Amino acid sequence: MGLLELILLVFVLLTAFSIVWGTLQTGISPMMSSGKACQAMLSSIEWPVNGPLIDLGSGWGTLVIAAARKYPHQQVIGYELSWFPWLVSIIRKYSLRLDNLTLYRKDFMNAEISDAAVLFCYLFPGGMVALDKKLNRELLKETLIVSNTFALPSCQPKKVIRLKDIYQTPIYVYDWQPA
Ligand SMILES: C[S@@+](CC[C@H](N)C(=O)[O-])C[C@H]1O[C@@H](n2cnc3c(N)ncnc32)[C@H](O)[C@@H]1O
Repeated sequence: MGLLELILLVFVLLTAFSIVWGTLQTGISPMMSSGKACQAMLSSIEWPVNGPLIDLGSGWGTLVIAAARKYPHQQVIGYELSWFPWLVSIIRKYSLRLDNLTLYRKDFMNAEISDAAVLFCYLFPGGMVALDKKLNRELLKETLIVSNTFALPSCQPKKVIRLKDIYQTPIYVYDWQPA
């Protein structure tokens, strides 16, 4: 094996390890929202908005990049813990020159999200329970919440969009009102 092949192999192994480690750490793989899901999630936004659009777990940047390109004058933020997907999303952000997009490699459970106008997520049932607790503690203003596939346990959606895909994937749209 040549040096180049060895470097490539180490890179592939590190990448695979980072994805597996990130999945174990967060409870979900960095699976991307489909094109149809991104479209449905972005079309749920009610304009005008007062604050940033935030993706809680921005993965490879699929949704945040679609949002930042579609709305170049709107501030868009993504939080992602898994370093390799985050790195890829950063490279995509700079190569597309998306100045309105900020990507943090950070646990969104420790992030300040109370000024968000819209919160997007695509998590898993346990993650939605933890998020629900954070929202009840910290979200003190009306906020639109749009969740791919998984529902928030303590809140009734105002709308559920069914995607025209093989799973009829639900997109839950909530008008969050502070208690
Ligand atoms: C299914 S992916 C969705 C990616 C992206 N939002 C999309 O729609 O294409 C979920 C992502 O959330 C990330 N994640 C889960 N919990 C997190 C946490 N507490 N803080 C930051 N990222 C988290 C995972 O690493 C994963 O990349």
